[in-house]
Parts: sequence; C-alpha cells; structure tokens
Amino acid sequence: MPDYLLLLSAYLLGSIPSAVLTCRALGLNDPRHSGSRNPGATNVLRLGGHRAAGLTLLADLSKGAAAILLAINLGATLLMQGWVMLAAVCGHLLPWCSPRHGGKGVATTLGCSLLLAWPLALCQLLFWGIMFLFGRISSLASIATAAVTPLFCYLLAPALLLPFSITSLLLILRHGSNIRKLIAGREHRF
Ligand code: G3P
Repeated sequence: MPDYLLLLSAYLLGSIPSAVLTCRALGLNDPRHSGSRNPGATNVLRLGGHRAAGLTLLADLSKGAAAILLAINLGATLLMQGWVMLAAVCGHLLPWCSPRHGGKGVATTLGCSLLLAWPLALCQLLFWGIMFLFGRISSLASIATAAVTPLFCYLLAPALLLPFSITSLLLILRHGSNIRKLIAGREHRF
C-alpha cells in the first residue's frame, strides 16, 4: 500500500467517534454538546460514569493501536509508523464527519505509543497517573504528560522524536480552553 493510503487509513481510523458512539449506545447525552463538550473518556466519565468512560478509553486506545498495527503489518519503517500515529491523532482531532467536534487525542496517542514503544507508553501512563493523583484534574495531567513526552521519547525512542513532538504540540494546543480554565481556577476536579 502506498504511504499516502496508509496515512489516509490511519486518519479514517482516528476519525471514528468512539465517545459519541459509546454514549449513543448507552443512551447518554452527546459528549460534544454536554459537560466539557469534549468527545473523550474524561467527559464521558462526567456524563455516564466509569463503565462508559472505560469503554470510550478502550475504543480510543484501540483505534490508535489499530493504525500502528496496520502500519507494522504493511512493513512501514519505524519513522513512518510515527507519522501514522500523527495521522490517526489528526483524525481524532479533526474527524472528517464533524471537524468542529473532534477530541483532544490523549488516549489515541497512548494507543499508538503502546505499539510504537511500550516503555515510552509506560512512562506516559505513570506520569499521567502521578499528575492526576497530584491535582485530580484530568486536563492538567494530559497537558503535563504531552509536555514531557518529547523528553521521554528522546531517552527511550529517539527515532520517533519528531512525530511525537508534533503530536504533543497539537495535544497541548488542543487543550487551549482547559489551559484558560486552569489559569482562572475553574477547571473541573474529580
Ligand atoms: O483527555 C482529555 C482531557 O485532557 C480533558 O478533557 O473533558 O476535561 O476537557 P475535558
């Protein structure tokens, strides 16, 4: 498969609106229009509890992992697999079906990391967990993890530094509204 088709497939996988489909299946409010209005596991946790959030998280992790699995099976180089991650995350951030209602890409990135470089994924997961325990604010944990990921990547998977750095930058930019709420002391705590 040519590289552009692989990237397009990853983008389409990333576009699958896991949170919206999960909420629809469970009869919950549309996460794009309720709570923080973010179609992600954190907002689904607010709207529908742990089971719904767990399903959303699993689906978002899986679509990232599936994109990398496809790239691996097609013999893509490691760097190309990194660009496939970026394409899948772009699909989550800007889904073709509703570009104004994408998510923030945290779980999709982690799903990719798990297959690209599991020690890096482990560090991301542990760092997120520590930051969450520290403040009980999901967005703060996500922003901090995205900020430190290029360092983890430099140490653990240097060949992937560029795609991970761009992905981290996109994730942080995507948390603009959360950053404003954090500064104003209005961000939601669990
Ligand atoms: O992963 C998304 C999380 O960092 C923020 O979600 O719903 O609080 O905007 P939310």
